[in-house]
Amino acid sequence: MSQNENETQNLYIQKVLHLNDQRGAMPYCVVQTFGCQQNASDSEKLKGMAEKMGYIITNKIEIADLIIFNTCAVRDSAEKKVLGNIGAIKHLKQNNRNVIMVLCGCMMAQQHIPKMIKEKYPYIDMVFGTNALYKFPSLLYEKISTKTKVFLTENIDISIPEGIPIKRESTCKAYVTIMYGCNNFCSYCIVPYVRGRERSRQSYEIEKEIKELIKDGYKDITLLGQNVNSYGKDLKIETDFADLLRQLNNIEGDFRLRFMTSHPKDITKKLIDTITESEKVCNHIHLPVQAGSNKILKLMNRGYTREKYFELIDYAKSKIKDLVLTSDILVGFPTETDDDFLETIDLIKKVEFDCLFTFIYSKRKGTPADTMEGQIPYEQKHKNFAILIKEQNLISKRINDNYLGKTVRVLAEGKSQSNEDMLTGRTEGNKIVNFAGDEKLIGQFVNVKILESKTWHLLGVNIKK
Ligand code: SAH
Ligand code: SF4
Ligand code: F3S
Repeated sequence: MSQNENETQNLYIQKVLHLNDQRGAMPYCVVQTFGCQQNASDSEKLKGMAEKMGYIITNKIEIADLIIFNTCAVRDSAEKKVLGNIGAIKHLKQNNRNVIMVLCGCMMAQQHIPKMIKEKYPYIDMVFGTNALYKFPSLLYEKISTKTKVFLTENIDISIPEGIPIKRESTCKAYVTIMYGCNNFCSYCIVPYVRGRERSRQSYEIEKEIKELIKDGYKDITLLGQNVNSYGKDLKIETDFADLLRQLNNIEGDFRLRFMTSHPKDITKKLIDTITESEKVCNHIHLPVQAGSNKILKLMNRGYTREKYFELIDYAKSKIKDLVLTSDILVGFPTETDDDFLETIDLIKKVEFDCLFTFIYSKRKGTPADTMEGQIPYEQKHKNFAILIKEQNLISKRINDNYLGKTVRVLAEGKSQSNEDMLTGRTEGNKIVNFAGDEKLIGQFVNVKILESKTWHLLGVNIKK
């Protein structure tokens, strides 16, 4: 974002703040997030801007004066969830005509959506796409001052939105976007259409943000991008993601650096070596493989083969001590036969991922796979999906059993959601650990002895060491 645009938006922040100051009581704002970490990070910016405009951020939708849904379009189920939630807030508008309802994010960046929203959900006041996020203050001012609907339908590709206020969810763990957009156009995926082309932030901006976070006590920093391995390709200076990691690793302090997502076609040996040599970079790589059959990988436009993937994994395992590996798998891509699927099962058994994020292929309007022949019937996709989960659960449990009796270093993030008496946190490898320990430990690194292992997490007790 240019300096000028920054100043313009700051001006609108002041204007909305002034209008809100004239109200009797301070207004409330709710931001509900759908989708991935990138959206969660965007929501922290929406909350940051709303707070500066005089809103109190709350989770209680019934009392909100401003309701924002930050939407996701990656699968049909994500869109259905958003639409269900939009339907469920209609009565709030009937109770209070002044409540402002805003839809933004990936789903809204698709051409056909704003029109549908206008027709089917006439009580929605404002719509804008992911790349227009930084314009939220001026759009909100327009809405309040003109009292008309504000629908911004073009999804502009602006350079980089720097300097937006952020209200972070956690006090110890932070997401830092290092690049926006995606250039890969995997044939099933909507993301490049809704988030635009790759744009890398300047490394000094990233370093500045992280230094401030460390100063504020943050201890776990996740660098975000759809394909972090492309970092720097669009910058004028000669740099890459490994260089960025080295630069950030030099920041002083006791903290961890992690990143997601890495694309197998772009991950380099230089990066793997850098992970090994940088003590703050975690021993965890999330490397989505999507499928185990070369035929399917080609149709997906992924740009690597299973052999190349195995080679990368072997290299990473040989270099990174106690490596934790996770991946995404997409089941039921058009033309996927049972033999193709068995190659996926074979691959996950050979690699032995710690954990998988598994998805059933969902047709996305405008993507090449949407019109491919050989769409897979619902029953077959679901049958294979269940087989995949069963196989992976066995692997995850077996790997987690190896932690029994060991002591791991955990960042205590907060109280466990499932058991208020326990704390929860993550290991360097991003494994969830629920443990008995004093609340005062929240925000600190602690040692936890593992007493029990589950498929998705570990259980233990805090010990002094
Ligand atoms: N940039 C990341 C992934 C972003 S989307 C990467 O390349 O790995 C997260 C995951 O959603 C993808 O890895 C894929 O497994 C899944 N996904 C994407 N499009 C999908 C679709 N049309 N149907 C089902 N799952 C999809
Ligand atoms: Fe989608 Fe592929 Fe880009 Fe990931 S790399 S966001 S799966 S197009
Ligand atoms: Fe993320 Fe969904 Fe957008 S997965 S990038 S919020 S489409």
